[in-house]
Amino acid sequence: MGFPIIAPQLKGLFNMRLASALTGTVLASALLLSGTAALAAPAEDLPAVQSSQLSKASSPLALINPTTKLSPEDYVPGKLVGVAGSSMTLRPEAAEAVEAFIADARAAGHSIKLLSAYRSYQRQAVLFNQYQAKYGTAYAERISARPGTSEHQLGLAADLGYTDSRAELKAEFGQTPAGLWIAEHAAEYGLIIRYPQGKEEITGYKYEPWHVRYVGVEHAEAMLASGAETFEEYHQMLAASIAEAEQSEAKAAIEKEPAKAKDEEPQEKSKKAGEDVVVDEDLMVLRFLPPYRDWGFGFTQ
Ligand code: DAL
Ligand code: ZN
Repeated sequence: MGFPIIAPQLKGLFNMRLASALTGTVLASALLLSGTAALAAPAEDLPAVQSSQLSKASSPLALINPTTKLSPEDYVPGKLVGVAGSSMTLRPEAAEAVEAFIADARAAGHSIKLLSAYRSYQRQAVLFNQYQAKYGTAYAERISARPGTSEHQLGLAADLGYTDSRAELKAEFGQTPAGLWIAEHAAEYGLIIRYPQGKEEITGYKYEPWHVRYVGVEHAEAMLASGAETFEEYHQMLAASIAEAEQSEAKAAIEKEPAKAKDEEPQEKSKKAGEDVVVDEDLMVLRFLPPYRDWGFGFTQ
């Protein structure tokens, strides 16, 4: 089973608002993770993170996927800057990473260019509708995020391809010299291949060797070292490490001053099943929507 322990561990340990958001993230992830073995990296091997880093849309660790939508759904990042050599924009830290990545790929002999970067809610809606009209809903959902659920809307994702259109936006791109270089060097620039091959049941999307997502060098390298092959799994590990740390802190507090710790224990609020969790203007609403996909649909590559 994918996710047996984290939600119970969170009970009463966090600031309740953040705990609700994180639990929601984790449960949303669990939808996509169900059926996969839970990975466990020792917490001490992972970078220390705060729960807000996992739940805020403005964080480089924000996880969005078909079951976790942005709020407001037409969210626009606070700051977007031009990516050198293109007419596209990204968040500043992602733009810097992608510019350096493309420059170094070119220096290594690969003629790659930026095909897509930040996309607004409206632009994503147009794209999704086009795919839906062309391929039907089931296939469109495997290759395109619905508006409000794309990492391109976070301003942290970039699609890369050859300048001469060879293998553009195709699985074969992963086996081209440029595709192989991208996979080998992405982490050095704080980028991850967000939709790896054979992981559609976890990520929700077909293999996209051209789509890189900025998470920062520390986390891109920690994710590689952890053995997590998807951001969903890495996110789950980080959530588990926070829960573990909070649990140790709570235990230590109880041991030190048992009476005081009991008085301060947060009271759990009642919450209806399926309720949206709105945490803050800048945070994601974590909706327990019926899955967009028919999960019985064959996952052929
Ligand atoms: N193609 C990716 C999943 C997107 O639309 O964001
Ligand atoms: Zn993309």
